[in-house]
Amino acid sequence: MFHYENGKLLCEETSLEEIAREAGTPCYVYSSKSILDAWQAYDAALGDLPHMVCYAVKANSTLAVLSLLARAGSGFDIVSGGELFRVLQAGGDPAKVVFSGVGKTVAEIELALRSGISNFNCESEGELAEIDAAAGRLGVTARFSLRVNPDVDAATHPYISTGLRDHKFGIDIHEAPAVYARARRFSNLRAAGVSCHIGSQILDYSPILEAAGKVLSLIEQLQAEGLPIDHVDLGGGLGIAYQASEQAPAIHDFIGALRDRVERAGLTVMIEPGRSIVGPSGVLLTKVLYRKNSPAKEFVIVDAAMNDLIRPSLYKAHHEIRPLQNGGGAAIVADVVGPVCETGDFLARDREMADAQPGDYLAISSAGAYGFVQASNYNSRPRPAEVLVNGEQWRVVRQRESYNDLIKGESV
Ligand code: LLP
Repeated sequence: MFHYENGKLLCEETSLEEIAREAGTPCYVYSSKSILDAWQAYDAALGDLPHMVCYAVKANSTLAVLSLLARAGSGFDIVSGGELFRVLQAGGDPAKVVFSGVGKTVAEIELALRSGISNFNCESEGELAEIDAAAGRLGVTARFSLRVNPDVDAATHPYISTGLRDHKFGIDIHEAPAVYARARRFSNLRAAGVSCHIGSQILDYSPILEAAGKVLSLIEQLQAEGLPIDHVDLGGGLGIAYQASEQAPAIHDFIGALRDRVERAGLTVMIEPGRSIVGPSGVLLTKVLYRKNSPAKEFVIVDAAMNDLIRPSLYKAHHEIRPLQNGGGAAIVADVVGPVCETGDFLARDREMADAQPGDYLAISSAGAYGFVQASNYNSRPRPAEVLVNGEQWRVVRQRESYNDLIKGESV
């Protein structure tokens, strides 16, 4: 959805330079078509199998993005009361919401129960007790799944791998039957499913299939013991190609392979994709402020920084950086750095890139997932604006923060 035409980088049919000039930089830009196409690829591949595609809100929780997906019929995977609030504000259907996360508070659990969400993905027995008590107080029955840890190595960055035994997530799959059995004593809970999520940015999806196999065997065992399990939630995690050397699996192929495994089980299949829906659908626009070289390095100093996009600093993540005007000029090798006072503030290191000069605009690619949502006000930098493109049209869907926004709620 981001491509050059006559040397100009476009998002759908809109010039990114026009957006950069009018909305200012740094600025996130999302393609509605790319977001919807990816969501529909999941939905279509699941086809006539009973299913629910629950977009993982944590990847990008901007209201306009949620609203786009809600109107397409998406469900939502949330991990906090704040995310639930956003989904509801965006017109999402609470009956299609699943609530994940290791540390749900009583207030969050009550909000979720009052809103009528579909299911809780639970990660400890203490949490089951808390949900049972809250459901009792409100006079409702809560549907739950245990998030099991299948002890499968997702082979991704250690910070975003979650399915090994020593990770904080889930309940060991071998202990799960005993936990489900003990949960029968909670009269306000109903065991409705089993969930698992083994990690994120997974480019070889065979570990997800392996985990699915283990989860399905567990479900068979639980059903044989008389539990009314009606769904399996296989989490998110499908990776995207951040650089040319990477090959992202097609959503269609991934779901096809999953279908082969789950089809005969007669279960509703739920999945929680985040990155693969919004990641490739967004860029971060930035302007070159200065060029500088030290004896050892060439620097391109831009107006976006680690506070706007922390992935390179936090995970050594690679994001392609492309000029908005492709002059085909001499390539340089440089570090692209922001104004934040940290050596760790970089968007790219030793990168072969266009010879961008002060005033030129650059697009940092694949920034639609875990971009704005992980932005902060570090160095008292207002968070960037966000723009949603639809064909030749675009609009600011979140204004750039002002200095007054920076001190909101503070007093001296
Ligand atoms: N479901 C659960 C329970 C999760 O924990 C996650 C992501 C997802 C679904 C969505 O996974 P996805 O399809 O987006 O891979 N900040 C990191 C990513 C952290 C992912 C956390 N959990 C990054 O920037 O790479």
